[in-house]
Amino acid sequence: MVEISFGKNARDSFVKILVATKDEALNYGITGGIIDRSAFNKLKSYVAREDEIAGKAQELLAFDNLKELIILCRVGLDVSAVDLQVLAGKIYPKIKKYTSASVFARHLPKTTFSALDIANNMGLGFELSSYSFDKYHTDIKKEDMPKLETVNFVAKEQIAKKDYEKTAALANAVRYARDLTNEPSNELTPAIYAADIKRLENLGLKVTLINKTELKKKGFNMLLSVSQGSVNDPYVAILEYNGNKKKKSVDVALVGKGVTFDSGGISIKPSNGMWDMKQDMAGSAVVVSSLKAAAQQKLSLNIVGIVGLVENMPSGTATRPGDIVTSLSGKTVEILNTDAEGRLVLGDCITYVEREYKPERIIDIATLTGAIVVALGDEMAGLFSNDDVLSELLSIAGEQSGEELWRFPLTDGYRKKIKSDIADVKNISEGRSAGSITAACFLEAFLKNKTPWAHLDIAGMDMFSKPKSLYGKGASGFGVLLLNKFLRNLETK
Ligand code: BES
Ligand code: MN
Ligand code: ZN
Repeated sequence: MVEISFGKNARDSFVKILVATKDEALNYGITGGIIDRSAFNKLKSYVAREDEIAGKAQELLAFDNLKELIILCRVGLDVSAVDLQVLAGKIYPKIKKYTSASVFARHLPKTTFSALDIANNMGLGFELSSYSFDKYHTDIKKEDMPKLETVNFVAKEQIAKKDYEKTAALANAVRYARDLTNEPSNELTPAIYAADIKRLENLGLKVTLINKTELKKKGFNMLLSVSQGSVNDPYVAILEYNGNKKKKSVDVALVGKGVTFDSGGISIKPSNGMWDMKQDMAGSAVVVSSLKAAAQQKLSLNIVGIVGLVENMPSGTATRPGDIVTSLSGKTVEILNTDAEGRLVLGDCITYVEREYKPERIIDIATLTGAIVVALGDEMAGLFSNDDVLSELLSIAGEQSGEELWRFPLTDGYRKKIKSDIADVKNISEGRSAGSITAACFLEAFLKNKTPWAHLDIAGMDMFSKPKSLYGKGASGFGVLLLNKFLRNLETK
C-alpha cells in the first residue's frame, strides 16, 4: 500500500516525477534544481523530437541514468481529473520496485489544476493502482512484492496532509469495497459481513442489523425466499449517516444487492464460472463503502444505506420455480426463476427504505443481470431511472469520476412483460430479450410513493479479468468513485 505525503523538498528520492504543461516540465526541472544539467540536456534532445501533444496527460519519458529515474509528464490543456488519475496508474508499474518517489507538481498554467489538484488526483491514482488482494497467499517471495511505500508530492505552495484527507478517505473506501468483494463466500457469509458492517459504528455511523426472525416479523418475504435454501441466515443492514443536523430529511438512500453467493438456487447455474458469483455482493460493498467514505469525509448530507445480505443456494428448503410469495409491499410475486434473485432482495429493501425513511431519492446498485454485460461489456454500467434530473446528475458524476453510465428506457411496454397470470408480478419476463430493462421494471414496482429512483446495473463492472486503468485484476469497487462524486456534487448544490 502506498502512503501519500507532502513536502517542500525531496531531492534525495531516486524516482523523480515531473508534471507540468508541455515542455515546461523540463524547464521546471532545471530551474527548480530538481534535475541536473546533463540530465536536462539529454531530456531536451529527446523532447525536441516529440510532436506537440493534443491534450490529455501523457507520460513522455522514463529516463534512468543510474543516479535517478526521471519521469517527465507533459500535460495538455484539456486534461481532466481522471486523466491525471490514470497517468499515475500508468506510472505505478515503473516505480513500484523503488521504496519512494517524489512528484514535482505545479499549478498548470491556463488550466484550473493547482499543484494540490494534481496531488489529489495522482495520489488517488497511485493508491488505487497499487491495490492488491493477497491475504490468502502464503508463498509470495519478498523480492516479488512491490516495494513502493511513499509517494511524496513536492510543491512550492505548502500542501498540508489535511488537504488530502478526503481523497485518502475515498481511496480507502474503494479498497474496502474491493476487499469485501474479493473475499470468498466461505469467509464472507451474511453473518460475517453483517458483523463487519457493524464495526463501522466506530466512524459515527448508526448501524442496525435486522436478523432472520425480525425479517420474518416485518414481512421481507421476497428476500427470505432467496435465503431459505441456505444454512447461512440472512441479514439486512441499515447504515445511517447524519451529516446535516440542520435538516430533517434524508437526501439519499443507497440500496445494495448483497448476495454473498449466487448459485442460482434450484434454477442452478452451470458450474463453469460459477465461482465468479462470490462477487454478487459487489453492489452492497459499494453502498457500505460509500457510507464509510461519507462519514470520513464529513459530508454535510443525510444518507441512509440499506443492504440485503443473503446466500442463494439449492436445497430441500429452497424456493421452487413457480412459488408465489407476498412481498413487503404487499404485491404478490410469482418466482419463475430462482436465479433472478437479486431483484427479490432489492425489491423488499427498496420498499422498506422508502416507507421508513422517506428519502428524497433512492439509488440502488447491483450486479443484477448478465444481459447488461452483453449490452455494455466492461466499459459502462447500466442506468435506469424514473427521474430525468436524478438520471442526469448520475450521468454527470459518471463522466467526472470515470465510472460511466449509459441510460436505458423504462416504458409501459416493458413494464407489461413482468405481469403474471396468477400473481401481481413475475420475476422474469419471457425469453431473454431486454433482460436488464425488465429487471429494472421489476424493481420499480416496489416503490410505493414514486420517489425519484435510479438503478445501476454493475454486472460486468464489479470485477475485471485483466488490469484496466486504475483497476487491477479482480474486484474493482466500481461505483464508489461514482457515488462519491455524486454525493459531493449534491452537497454543494
Ligand atoms: N448475479 C446474476 C447476474 C450476473 C451475471 C452478475 C453475470 C455478474 C455477472 C443474477 O442474479 C442472475 O443470475 N441473473 C440472471 C437473470 C435471469 C435468470 C433472468 C441472468 O442474468 O442470467
Ligand atoms: Mn442469479
Ligand atoms: Zn445474482
